[in-house]
Amino acid sequence: MAVSSAPGKVYLFGEHAVVYGEPAVPCAIERRARVSVERRTDEHLRVEADDLSIDGFTVEYGGPTDGEPDVAVPEPLISAAMGYVDGAIDQVREVAGVEDVGFDVAIESDIPLGAGLGSSAAVVVAAIDAAARELGIELERTELADRAYRTEHAVQDGQASRADTFCSATGGAVRVEGDDCRSIDAPELPLVIGFDGGAGDTGTLVAGVRELRAEHGFAADTVAAIGDLVREGETTLREGDLEALGELMDFNHGLLSALGVSSRSLDRMVWAARDAGALGAKLTGAGGGGCIVALDPTDATETALSFTPGCEDTFRAELAEEGVKRLE
Ligand code: MEV
Repeated sequence: MAVSSAPGKVYLFGEHAVVYGEPAVPCAIERRARVSVERRTDEHLRVEADDLSIDGFTVEYGGPTDGEPDVAVPEPLISAAMGYVDGAIDQVREVAGVEDVGFDVAIESDIPLGAGLGSSAAVVVAAIDAAARELGIELERTELADRAYRTEHAVQDGQASRADTFCSATGGAVRVEGDDCRSIDAPELPLVIGFDGGAGDTGTLVAGVRELRAEHGFAADTVAAIGDLVREGETTLREGDLEALGELMDFNHGLLSALGVSSRSLDRMVWAARDAGALGAKLTGAGGGGCIVALDPTDATETALSFTPGCEDTFRAELAEEGVKRLE
């Protein structure tokens, strides 16, 4: 058996715009998905997951062509989760040059599913790493990130950037612009997360922005403005100016809101953080529901969020210096 873990992430800036070649800066956080993989004697794939913020499910199936798994949890979440695992295993079959190898895969994750903290990227990165090692292959981090990206790209109908998967594979703070992915230095960031208990469908949200951008010049300008903001944010990050960073996060949230990817509960949590004195707050990831990230060195934001109607969980997030970890 091989076991790997990979971290989730928050976006300091740049989600959505990164899909159109603008830069983005995500940071890996110490919330992880842990994937155990054991080779089977047949070619089937069995996936067990108890902790993806949905009721536990166990599915055995021969691949996507065998129809939808029969489970009593929201269908889009299951299909997405299964699609990511299936795609990850296909990457490993390709790299190993064996079509008919089967696996038992067990997933444990403390990253809520579809909530903007990079749960799918973490599962895909850890699954590819563990399954490849189960077949005796150690992938370089860059190849791991690339294969994980190809998986997300396929599952999200060709609408994924390299940001989530690169960040999860390498850890730390990263800068992604098109195919150019690199690690960058970041000061200690007092990150606070608020989670509304919900999830957004990344594919649908990305498609919505794509349509807006194609239809209206001002929506395309909004996407370009996010790119400008990220370029300024990179300098601010290098200088370690947390106040200026917070202002840019607030602005970034406004632009994402204009693109229609915020929600009432995300806005409520953002405003609760700002009212509590956070230096800045924004939604993180695809949006539609899920998480916000705020910058606050004091306890005030966490306390305020814990009393905010619609906020189900709040916690401080530490930067994950290490990306994928090989545990067994
Ligand atoms: C989702 O976590 C981030 C998006 O920018 C999509 C992507 O980059 O693939 C919305």
